Amino acid sequence: MLEPYVVTVSSEKGGVGKTTLATNLAIYLKALNEELPVTLFSFDNHFSVDRMFRLGRTLPKGDMLDLLSGTPVEHLLELGEYGVQFIPSSRKLESIASRMNRYDILARALAGSTLKGIVIIDTRPILDIFTQNALFASDRVIVPVKDTPSLENCRNLYDFFEDQGLSKRPLRLLPCLIDSRVHYDGPFKNAYQLLKGYAINRGYRCLEGYIAKSPKVESLNTNPEGKIYPVLTHGRGTNVHFQFAHLARQIFIGAKDEPQRRLDEIRQGLEQQEQTRDENFHTRRDLVLPDCPICGRQLVRHNAMEPASYFYTTSDHQVAGFLDEACFSSLVFRHCYHTQKKISPTDPLVDLFRESALRSYFVLRHADDNPATGAHNLLFYRFDDEGFEISHKSIEYRKNETRFLHKGPSALYRLASQTLFSEDTPIKERFLFIRRINSEFPEEILLDENYARLDAAMQYIGSKLPSNPED
Ligand SMILES: Nc1ncnc2c1ncn2[C@@H]1O[C@H](COP(=O)(O)OP(=O)(O)OP(=O)(O)O)[C@@H](O)[C@H]1O
Ligand SMILES: [Mg+2]
Repeated sequence: MLEPYVVTVSSEKGGVGKTTLATNLAIYLKALNEELPVTLFSFDNHFSVDRMFRLGRTLPKGDMLDLLSGTPVEHLLELGEYGVQFIPSSRKLESIASRMNRYDILARALAGSTLKGIVIIDTRPILDIFTQNALFASDRVIVPVKDTPSLENCRNLYDFFEDQGLSKRPLRLLPCLIDSRVHYDGPFKNAYQLLKGYAINRGYRCLEGYIAKSPKVESLNTNPEGKIYPVLTHGRGTNVHFQFAHLARQIFIGAKDEPQRRLDEIRQGLEQQEQTRDENFHTRRDLVLPDCPICGRQLVRHNAMEPASYFYTTSDHQVAGFLDEACFSSLVFRHCYHTQKKISPTDPLVDLFRESALRSYFVLRHADDNPATGAHNLLFYRFDDEGFEISHKSIEYRKNETRFLHKGPSALYRLASQTLFSEDTPIKERFLFIRRINSEFPEEILLDENYARLDAAMQYIGSKLPSNPED
């Protein structure tokens, strides 16, 4: 699938003609090839895109805020004047700026969408998270420069590409708002040549040509209809008309000649990530023990799972699996709350424990055996969600016990022997980490993001356990 070619117009300098460039470029591209879908996205805060493209009094379908918040692009596109589709800017962008902590949100929203042709993104005069998202998705970045300060500002754009490990190939400077009446003595005859010379000198690449400062363009913003008129319809025959036409041709040819689109690269990266995520999940699933180590019930089947409420893993990731809900609660009630009778799963105390366990991590580890009785000693810790210790308790247990007419290995022994022993010897440096999980979808814990969170909590809590369990 050929993804759209994304062109961003960006400069940290205000009033250099970004919006004029983005909107007119869209119209000239459409004029160059009627069949070419041309879409304009605006992050600008002057809302000129609405004034230029909205047909009649149609209500907006949505805006860029909706796109970044997850609404599919196809639901937001409006067909506007001159055959250009657009999504207007939003007055509420600031409200999500602090929550936007990734550069690829826009790129992900567009990769794999049904958008085609050329997408042009108009940005604000600031390298904020919205501009960064636009740059991240771009095949071509046009940087209008009108004077030396705006040229100096380009450094930040280049640095962004450098920091993200992106090729700087898409970046192109374009001298704009050039006053053609000004002439200099010396090698650079006018402002265009001077800026181009400076740019090349600093290692920046430029598009061919420039956009002149024209009273005609300035006048297109002010009229009784309150519209903004394009150069194509209202400035034909002027120099800027030919300059925009030349610019549009360069962009069009650039798009045609680009063998791989940035969004293609992003889509492939996402597919690769998805595949790795899947493989990691299956590797973890293949390694978990299928049975509950306490009651022996098979919880993990070939392509399904029984409900299970706890996940456990050893600190060295050697053994992992699921625990039956009732098995773990009765173990805790017996050893920590010293409940003598068999506890009913409908007991309100069990409910209370179940609920509070959602915000807890449990740790089991061996302490020294009791040499007098030969019994094993375990330390049982409970930590809260933040990794603060809530309680700890020492538990003595034997391999065999007689309880409720049952004689045989104790529940604790069954759990410990399958996780914290090698042969018949307790492994002191290992601990068992237990977490309450979503019992309807127990395997969710094996997905990358959930597992990484669990692992981070385990590392953090592990670092807080005393190195000598006897301390
Ligand atoms: N080629 C031009 N000739 C004359 N005036 C121009 C030209 N291009 C833009 N202008 C005028 O300059 C002003 C700023 O242009 P524009 O809004 O496109 O800049 P901008 O970079 O998008 O600004 P901002 O950074 O505030 O979003 C407008 O009044 C516009 O009409
Ligand atoms: Mg603007």
